Amino acid sequence: MNPVSSKKTPFTFDSIEPESGLRAALAMTRADIIGEVSASNLRGRGGAGFPTGTKWNLAAAAKVKAGGRKFVVCNADEGEPGTFKDRVILTDHANLVFEGMTIAARATGATTGIVYLRSEYVYLRPHLEAVLETRRAQKILGKDIGGLAGFEFDIHIHMGAGAYVCGEETALIESLEGYRGEPRNRPPFPVDTGFEGQPTVVNNVETLAWTACILSRSAKWFRATGTEKSAGGKLFSVSGDCREPGVYEFPLGITVADLLRSVGGEGAKAVQIGGASGHCIPASEFSRRIAFEDIATGGSIIVLGPGRDMIQVAKNFMEFFVEESCGQCTPCRAGNAKLLEGIEKLERGECSMAYLQELLALCETMQLASKCGLGQSSPNAFVSIVKHFKDEIMGRSLVH
Ligand SMILES: Cc1cc2nc3c(=O)[nH]c(=O)nc-3n(C[C@H](O)[C@H](O)[C@H](O)COP(=O)(O)O)c2cc1C
Ligand code: SF4
Repeated sequence: MNPVSSKKTPFTFDSIEPESGLRAALAMTRADIIGEVSASNLRGRGGAGFPTGTKWNLAAAAKVKAGGRKFVVCNADEGEPGTFKDRVILTDHANLVFEGMTIAARATGATTGIVYLRSEYVYLRPHLEAVLETRRAQKILGKDIGGLAGFEFDIHIHMGAGAYVCGEETALIESLEGYRGEPRNRPPFPVDTGFEGQPTVVNNVETLAWTACILSRSAKWFRATGTEKSAGGKLFSVSGDCREPGVYEFPLGITVADLLRSVGGEGAKAVQIGGASGHCIPASEFSRRIAFEDIATGGSIIVLGPGRDMIQVAKNFMEFFVEESCGQCTPCRAGNAKLLEGIEKLERGECSMAYLQELLALCETMQLASKCGLGQSSPNAFVSIVKHFKDEIMGRSLVH
């Protein structure tokens, strides 16, 4: 195992026979591959939870525009604060991710794959290039893959430049095309009009690895783990005030309490689930489940111990969003700055109840009117902290 891996539990990925998913896919029709992925109920592991089979089906049905080709993009931008599971997957299981991309290509008719790699992960590039080179030598990339005449697909790596918003799939595509990374209006969606205006599947690193497992083991096998609406296992990046931070695999549907017990985080005051753009869950709600139907997450779990100052937690996240907002739309550009101003008033003990209500109304506007997921979700942490820790955050202001 690579020394930078922070893997804490064995991953299902370890138990999958290399290339068995691709072998199975090559013996199937495109429709059957998509049918199997759809039947698994796999939902995207990048955060939004869109059904992967549906995405592949839309891209397969989309028409290529004059002289173009379809693309499969692996979103390895992993910029959500507290998330580092994709780094571990790329370190320990790069082949499985590339296998998943090749299966996606076979299913959708794509001929080019692109890994959009977070700029800070540049040190992984030589390792990934070496894995790709070996795959070309093994004829599981390139022309007539696996002996299947006419099946052509290759993958290259594109480095990000350090902007969190470029993890958003349409900003990522703008960045790939050489423009400033700003989200596009949707529709049209990338499955129809993506990179170079062509049908493009954008999937998270972990999602792609799971598709290879599903083709290897079956949709039924995948559904046997997790809940009805949230099938399968999930990797979690666990950090903060716990004894064993690192990357874990748990079934979706696990309660917050069970997760905390496994990572040595008992006694936590709260857990931030879903990174800076996620929700702050207080101890009174630790019986809730981590699943799309309850608390959804791309995998970031930040444990907050009893000594944490919740104003500082909110301030830290808001400083991040002020820095990372692309500035394209007003609710997000001005809203995050205004919220940070409000949090600084709370910090100084200068916030009245009426002003707090104004801040919450601003949060609602941002959630409703921002153009992309960044501005729509950046107020989440603040709103949940106000909801669950109002006495603590207003404490200083009420004294004065
Ligand atoms: C601000 C922002 C940042 C995002 N960052 C990432 C990221 O780093 N990795 C990722 O897979 N998805 C990220 N997403 C979600 C992507 O837009 C997209 O939903 C995802 O790549 C789709 O893959 P999936 O269906 O396999 O989850 C981000 C979304 C937003 C709004
Ligand atoms: S919500 Fe924020 S990041 Fe998204 S387009 Fe608007 S300004 Fe840019």
